[in-house]
Amino acid sequence: MTSVPSDLDDYLAAHDERICRELFDFLRIPSVSARSEHDADTARAASWVAQSLKDAGLAATIHATPGHPVVVGEWRGAKGAPTVLVYGHYDVQPAEPLELWTTPAFEPTIRDGRVYARGAVDDKGQLFLHVKALEAHLKTRGKLPVNVIVLAEGEEEVGSANLEAFVEMHANELACDGVVISDSSMFAPGLPSVLSSLRGLAYFQIDVAGPAQDLHSGSYGGAVVNPAMALARMLATLHDDHGHIAIPGFYDAAREWPAHVLEQMKGLPFDEEQFRQETGAPALGGEDGYSVLERLWTRPTCEVNGLLSGYTGEGAKTVLPSKAMAKVSCRLVPDQTPEAIERLMDAHLQRVAPGGVSVKVMHLHGGRPWRADLGGPLFDAARRALSAAFGRDPVITGEGGSIPVVGDFERILQAPVLLVGFGLPGESAHAPDEWLSMDNFTKGMRAIATLWDELSAASS
Ligand code: BES
Ligand code: MN
Ligand code: MN
Repeated sequence: MTSVPSDLDDYLAAHDERICRELFDFLRIPSVSARSEHDADTARAASWVAQSLKDAGLAATIHATPGHPVVVGEWRGAKGAPTVLVYGHYDVQPAEPLELWTTPAFEPTIRDGRVYARGAVDDKGQLFLHVKALEAHLKTRGKLPVNVIVLAEGEEEVGSANLEAFVEMHANELACDGVVISDSSMFAPGLPSVLSSLRGLAYFQIDVAGPAQDLHSGSYGGAVVNPAMALARMLATLHDDHGHIAIPGFYDAAREWPAHVLEQMKGLPFDEEQFRQETGAPALGGEDGYSVLERLWTRPTCEVNGLLSGYTGEGAKTVLPSKAMAKVSCRLVPDQTPEAIERLMDAHLQRVAPGGVSVKVMHLHGGRPWRADLGGPLFDAARRALSAAFGRDPVITGEGGSIPVVGDFERILQAPVLLVGFGLPGESAHAPDEWLSMDNFTKGMRAIATLWDELSAASS
């Protein structure tokens, strides 16, 4: 069995304290890409990543985009060896609601072997462990066994609107034999995992407008159509009684899942009752005829993310609201596309809109779903490297979340993508008290450091 090379292991152990200190510095930068008041912080995080790549021994450049900058690091001294592209994101989700954090979101704190901070797992901690794995090679041996490009973006959490064009424009410089991404989770503690699928996304804002201003609900109610009721009725048409999505044509492009993938899923150690307890929901629910993992990984969804209308303050106010708004998102599976789903959603909502209100549908962002047949030298090297660091072979899992750029990498760079993440169930990504297991961080650095040796050995 492969083990973590002792020189790399020793280096990482000897520098453990400094590495943690640096991780904390990174986590202290509130690089919230969605908020313009944090633009300077987001820019500072980009510079911080570029500097840490340089300190590790790579060349690094910061590229301006119409949005937040892209950082590119490179080391190309391994003649004849494969070239890998490591992708991650240095932006984070907003930390609100702040009062629900046990310790402040941008003051990283260790409790019970976990570091708590916004971005700890998604994705700063996971991006940073890649930088430290590269540093271990370059500082102990003065070189890397493979050629490496690191691409860190600052707009993943807002839909990566500028990244596809960036990859297109720099396709020659970004040419590689494989892409490695750590922006996901392991299936269970101690169980390293490689993803074979991601869902895509189409995100909408629905605005329903009625009377020109709020009205007295006694003087006008019953004779003027209520926008909140209209919106509720429209939202109720999105599913049938079996949890199927009732938008005509919605499933047309959804491809069947290969039997071996569904079979593999059944072999994973998954306890539906434990999953329910983790969510705190009184019962689980979803589309009839599918297991929980199938619902999460293989089936598209349509969800309300937010609702706004009328009076929501203390006590009762008799009012007929002038408008209502909903944020609705669909998770997509291959080969659904955000563009086609946008058209179907628009047409459906206009068709079911009751008279007496006007309906406007905006498309906020989207991303394509992704599915891969795992195999080849990169995947085989990952299996050996993960088992060296974690003491057991990885499982193959799916994922319900989205990373919009994954399909773009595959298509534009014509390279396989390896998604190997070090988060854990319950990590509270996008929520208060986000955390990363320090044990996974430590083992993750070693797994990735080992990966480059294994990949190079396999291709020489
Ligand atoms: N790292 C996540 C994607 C993810 C989520 C991977 C859950 C594994 C488990 C990523 O940062 C993310 O949050 N993506 C967004 C996409 C969006 C904002 C376009 C998502 O899935 O909601
Ligand atoms: Mn992420
Ligand atoms: Mn995220």
